[in-house]
Amino acid sequence: MKKIIVTGALGQIGSELIAKLRSEYGTDNVLATDIRRPQSPTGGPFEILDVTDAKRMHELAKAFGADTMMHMAALLSATAEEQPLFAWNLNMGGLVNALEVSRELNLQFFTPSSIGAFGPSTPKKGTPQDTLQRPTTMYGVNKVAGELLCDYYFHKFGLDTRGVRFPGLISNVAKPGGGTTDYAVDIYYKAIEEGKYTSYIAEGTYMDMMYMPDALQAIVDLMEADPAKLVHRNAFNVTAMSFEPSEIAASIRKHIPTFEIDYAVDPVRQAIAESWPDAIDASAAMTEWGFKAEYDLDKMTEDMLAELKVKLKRESEAS
Ligand code: SER
Repeated sequence: MKKIIVTGALGQIGSELIAKLRSEYGTDNVLATDIRRPQSPTGGPFEILDVTDAKRMHELAKAFGADTMMHMAALLSATAEEQPLFAWNLNMGGLVNALEVSRELNLQFFTPSSIGAFGPSTPKKGTPQDTLQRPTTMYGVNKVAGELLCDYYFHKFGLDTRGVRFPGLISNVAKPGGGTTDYAVDIYYKAIEEGKYTSYIAEGTYMDMMYMPDALQAIVDLMEADPAKLVHRNAFNVTAMSFEPSEIAASIRKHIPTFEIDYAVDPVRQAIAESWPDAIDASAAMTEWGFKAEYDLDKMTEDMLAELKVKLKRESEAS
């Protein structure tokens, strides 16, 4: 990994991933691309790229001299349910283009899958690495097809494809958009701004989660891992914690004792959440490439609240 092109670089993961990669591999060695212009400069090379445009993707990767592709551009689960055909075209079209460009230019390849690749018939607790995957969402269909496609490019063409199944990702930098797990981000903003939060996910609904610094480290660690040790290649289960809304509320209350949570359940996102596992098993990632998460719920809450307070104060002073 020396010259890295990143698609979807202004998205939830991408915007922090490029900063991390630039600090580790050098500013000029990471080309950020996205379909929209950044609101402020990304601090390094940036190009507009619609991932459904394979020709431009090839040209940009080639001109940059990339040896690695990180394909992050995708619609998240709830948005994909609103526009299923658009999601198919963007999520699958973008992925196959990114794989093809990587095959043509012989790039190491990373793309994230998700807990969304599981479905109601998947074992809910201790969800194994290799298990039943019959998702009931368009996002999940895209993710399973994507996992298989990445495996296919490895077996058929010898392309160095790697990937993880991310749980809900929580960050104090970029807000997610259109995901089912987003409540676990929104709740921190509302805790600081209003002291209360109305959750669209019902009490008692468990999902896996991870703090963004652990997610970024996982990407780097997997990409740097010795390929001889990888039994799996793509779609490694990774997780740091599993909680339901009242548990994250209790964690916030340790810092904001008056914080209150109530519920106005959104049937669409609730149904998606219920179709996903409660807690997945990440032992394959731990064994094969040493995956480890630093943040549990309370450690994440402490950091989120501290960082967000500073950020929100800065934003309110600037406006
Ligand atoms: N965070 C994602 C979502 O909720 C899961 O991959 O869609």
